[in-house]
Amino acid sequence: MKLNRKDILGIQELSVEEINLILETADSFIEVSTREIKKVPTLRGKTVINLFYEASTRTRTSFEIAAKRLSADTINISAATSSVVKGETLIDTAKNLEAMNPDIIVIRHSAAGAPHMLAGILRQSVINAGDGAHEHPTQALLDMMTIRAKKGGIAGLKVAIVGDIAHSRVARSNIHGLTKMGAQVSVSGPATMIPRGIEKMGVVVHMSIEEAIRDADIIMMLRIQTERETQNIFPSLREYAQYFSLNRKNIGLARKDVLIMHPGPINRGVEISSDLADGPHSIILDQVTNGVAVRMALLYLLTGGTS
Ligand code: CP
Repeated sequence: MKLNRKDILGIQELSVEEINLILETADSFIEVSTREIKKVPTLRGKTVINLFYEASTRTRTSFEIAAKRLSADTINISAATSSVVKGETLIDTAKNLEAMNPDIIVIRHSAAGAPHMLAGILRQSVINAGDGAHEHPTQALLDMMTIRAKKGGIAGLKVAIVGDIAHSRVARSNIHGLTKMGAQVSVSGPATMIPRGIEKMGVVVHMSIEEAIRDADIIMMLRIQTERETQNIFPSLREYAQYFSLNRKNIGLARKDVLIMHPGPINRGVEISSDLADGPHSIILDQVTNGVAVRMALLYLLTGGTS
């Protein structure tokens, strides 16, 4: 099967069949990263540019590793050390990169819709590595891959997403993906962090973490996104932790085999206690491992690969 798309911009527009194709392809790439020589020639001669206007550890590194494991050439551009600081526009930057004839441009930008704008003007495939508070499709794909691998499937699972839902592109992409794949998704956080009308996305809203995580199969904790908050939307981190952190006291409400996820970076002691983040229920580092395989799958499928 082929992925008949030029770009990966969001989970919202992907069908269940496309998500399954990407996840199955990613499963097949897991093994490459366990070899002594972690490289296959699949994308030899292809060029991938990572264009990051926002900070990143996991996404940027895993896109670079994914491309290198497939033998593509990779170039990392950080806005802070590029001609963006001299005032060059996003479109001028992108058109100049296009002129060097890469095959795929991966972009992270603080403005929602920035990858969509580039996809409309560039010949190359564009992958959204996070656009403002809109979508983070590759994160949701690696999350779904991890849940599938650990639970054997997604349909019917009770998933609680807790934290700063309003500013979270991870929450938005996961809500689109998990509901499409048949999970029962609930969200919880302070009222100021729950977007009005979010129920229309097919989720249940709980005003307390205790209600949200009761009998949950999966708990996905989110980071407080201070960089996207325009006003004080909660009194203090201490109070936030008191009411919305996942800790040893409330984890007992979830199923005994609950899995704990977090996209990172973690604010330890704020949204999650360290003992849970590092404990036996945590699959946070499995998410990171699977991020490489998901990104290998996308680079492969967007350059015409079949599964
Ligand atoms: N999960 C995630 O997007 O992490 P980074 O910001 O480190 O890429």
